Amino acid sequence: MAHDHTKPVNVRFAVLTASDRSSLGEREDISGAEIGRIGGENGWELVSHTIVADDKEMLKKEMIRLCDIVQVNVVLTTGGTGLAPRDFTPDATVEVIEKNVPGIAEAMRLESLKKTPYAMLSRAICGVRGKTLIVNLPGSPKAVRECLDVILPAIPHAVALLGDEVSDCAR
Ligand code: MTE
Repeated sequence: MAHDHTKPVNVRFAVLTASDRSSLGEREDISGAEIGRIGGENGWELVSHTIVADDKEMLKKEMIRLCDIVQVNVVLTTGGTGLAPRDFTPDATVEVIEKNVPGIAEAMRLESLKKTPYAMLSRAICGVRGKTLIVNLPGSPKAVRECLDVILPAIPHAVALLGDEVSDCAR
């Protein structure tokens, strides 16, 4: 059955901020708040917003909780995608996903490269665990806005596909 693109898709989403300093309350989580705001503007329901230290095991544990227990449709992470010694978000993500969805990360890098050559330094991974899509966004508020601009149009259809509401693409 073709997906009725006029029908709104309910998107329940979680924000997961990876930041040592924000997890200690030493830095305001501006990027996480920005993701929540943009999702809300799009009519999505913010179900959870957690801040976790840049620790691979802690990040994995929180991703698994959001996918398996809270069962959100989408987890949007921010931070920790670069090359710094404490950047572990993609490494945690790759260990919890069951299917890689490389096109989302490719699209973000492609468009972001038009804004800054540093975009090629993001190791962002996107993929599916159960019925949840996990997307790694970079850490800065500006990067978050730019990357969300790129991927937002595809997210409701991804959610519809994961929820068995649709089995093919009408376009
Ligand atoms: N993507 C966009 N659209 N705009 C940006 O300003 N900054 C980049 C990149 N992606 C950026 C971007 C920078 S400076 C880095 S180092 C990498 O993402 C990794 O960022 P992170 O470690 O904060 O996740």
